[in-house]
Amino acid sequence: MRIGNVTNENNTEIQNNSSFKILAVDDEVGILDSLSIFLKRTGYAFTGETDPIKAVQMIKDEHFDLLLLDFIMTPLHGDQVVEEIRKFDKEIYIILLTGHKDLAPPLETIRRLDIQGYCEKSNKFDQLLLLIESGIKSVQQMREIKKINIELEKTYERLEKSYIESIQTIRYTVEAKDTYTRGHSDRVSEYSVLIGKKLNLNESDIKLLQIGGLFHDVGKIGVPDSILQKNAKLTDDEYSEIKNHPSIGAHILSTASIFKDIIPIVKHHHERYDGKGYPGKLKGEEIPYLARIAAVADAFDAMTSRRVYRNSLPINTVIEEIEDNKGTQFDPQIADAFLDILKNDFDKIKEIMEKYKEN
Ligand SMILES: [Fe+2]
Ligand SMILES: [Fe+2]
Repeated sequence: MRIGNVTNENNTEIQNNSSFKILAVDDEVGILDSLSIFLKRTGYAFTGETDPIKAVQMIKDEHFDLLLLDFIMTPLHGDQVVEEIRKFDKEIYIILLTGHKDLAPPLETIRRLDIQGYCEKSNKFDQLLLLIESGIKSVQQMREIKKINIELEKTYERLEKSYIESIQTIRYTVEAKDTYTRGHSDRVSEYSVLIGKKLNLNESDIKLLQIGGLFHDVGKIGVPDSILQKNAKLTDDEYSEIKNHPSIGAHILSTASIFKDIIPIVKHHHERYDGKGYPGKLKGEEIPYLARIAAVADAFDAMTSRRVYRNSLPINTVIEEIEDNKGTQFDPQIADAFLDILKNDFDKIKEIMEKYKEN
């Protein structure tokens, strides 16, 4: 039997309390009636229920902040009711009521079931009211903490967004200066994702490849325009300036912890499997795995893009080139995965090329 919601909205203090919902479960209607009258005065939204099984269902169906629970009931004892409730609701504040002659439940049970307090039933409700008040205070604090956490999360998301936007700006600046790389980062990002999927990498690695690809060349912002925009082959000195871009990129990204996991991709996308790359001259497995993937995607895009001194290479030449450099420039397994895509799934590559077509 359910004893309906009781609130009193005439008094401001009471109105304040009415946002807190209390459920009392006792198989004696008399007790529920007294509680109802008593709690009506305090203004809490009160519901009483005589059937413990129904009470469990009610807590599943609607939100209650605090539960007053009789200990000795049929067919479920209070502690069994709590056991059921704690399976799906860890937050509801629970006060156990014991009869005069009942044995209080063992302390161990109270702790295990996360019961916040217990109180002996009496005709005077003073002690119970104090327990309820302290329970409601704790509920209120939990609400505050939740609110603050949501605010913090929102702030963090905003911060993350603005960091990403600032790096995007750098990327667009680089691409605006270096016309030959326009669309390059987008393509490298998408090719890397294709390879990652072919290698059955998990979601979070795929995400890193996607972002890492987009930002792998941001360090070019630190390379002089005269070199980036040169319409001829580079001298050795100029080339060594270009070689700084992975480290510059890693440095730029190190300003925000959200980029931490893509830094290895950015820093090592020009390493070679045989150890003759830059900047670390890392060899084989020493090169971070995702950087080895980005390296294949990056080289592929360089070969299939036009340069001032040459046209883009025909796809068959590119395939040969990757095959020839397996184990020297490229990780052989990753190269094989990409060759498999090129030979059997070229539509996907073509789609990406079309999407970010060079001007
Ligand atoms: Fe690069
Ligand atoms: Fe690149």
